[in-house]
Amino acid sequence: MSGAERRALVCGAGFMGHGIAQVLAAAGWEVRLYEPALARAVAGRDRVAANLDRALAKGRIDAATRDAILGRILPAAELPAAAAGAGLVVEAIVEDEAAKRALFTALDGLVPDDALLATNTSSIPIARIAAAVRPERRGAVIGMHFFSPVPVMPLVEIVRSASTADAAEARVRAIVAELGKEAVVSADRPGFLVNRMLIPFLGEAMRLLEEGTGSAAEIDAAARLGLNHPMGPLELADFIGLDTLLAIMEIQAEGLGAPHHAPPAILRRLVAEGRLGRKSGAGFLDYPAG
Ligand SMILES: NC(=O)c1ccc[n+]([C@@H]2O[C@H](COP(=O)([O-])OP(=O)(O)OC[C@H]3O[C@@H](n4cnc5c(N)ncnc54)[C@H](O)[C@@H]3O)[C@@H](O)[C@H]2O)c1
Repeated sequence: MSGAERRALVCGAGFMGHGIAQVLAAAGWEVRLYEPALARAVAGRDRVAANLDRALAKGRIDAATRDAILGRILPAAELPAAAAGAGLVVEAIVEDEAAKRALFTALDGLVPDDALLATNTSSIPIARIAAAVRPERRGAVIGMHFFSPVPVMPLVEIVRSASTADAAEARVRAIVAELGKEAVVSADRPGFLVNRMLIPFLGEAMRLLEEGTGSAAEIDAAARLGLNHPMGPLELADFIGLDTLLAIMEIQAEGLGAPHHAPPAILRRLVAEGRLGRKSGAGFLDYPAG
């Protein structure tokens, strides 16, 4: 394989981006982890270091493996340099169509002609993101939707738009297998497969709380103990991030014309108050520091 084929650019070093960088680096990819502000890219790599330190403490990896994985992740704040020579791009920036389209347009002028352009979007149609690049590149634009925490969750949804090439799907399938994960393929419909099922469920849990049918603890316990879910829906919402979830719900409700996918008022209120879930220390539940 050429250098470009083993060089990846991960855009966005947040909750998902740092995990995606980790699994790619663990599989031997040289990863540029890009954020417009270098401190955030470095913070993303620090999160990977913390994950790896936990794995080391549990005896799952040795110190040499930790150092090798971390050594393959280079934080970057200059897009042209980070994109040069990348064979694979995985975009994991904010769930905002305009931001993603602007990034893809910039990438179109920077990455090699044969680069695969994957997006981790949860809900934005791949065709709309693909429209931001030149027509001759649209075959390489594909959804590669990971689940959190990325190093743990076994699934990747592959999402094809009408213009995605068979060769792009084959390449993503090979990468997913290389990461030790399983792929399912979805058509380019809002929410794909998993979030189409999950979002109404999370919304209903929020409406139960709004109505006062049960407390947050009772709603979560009901799902854990009555449905055998590992995590209650409100705790899961906090884990995903309430700002991200709000964006997903708005996009899905509009795209599907389905009010039961729309964000309940309580979600809008929590986001407006800066209660973004686990990442801000509070959401539906509280997460005291440490
Ligand atoms: N949270 C989840 O459970 C989850 C699961 C699957 C997919 N996703 C999707 O992954 C993407 C990222 O979500 P997240 O939860 O990691 O959000 P996040 O808020 O944790 O991280 C997003 C990061 O993108 C950065 N960013 C914003 N604009 C950028 C730009 N132009 N270039 C580079 N970086 C930029 C931000 O600084 C931030 O660090 C979204 O599309 C989301 O829908 C999220």
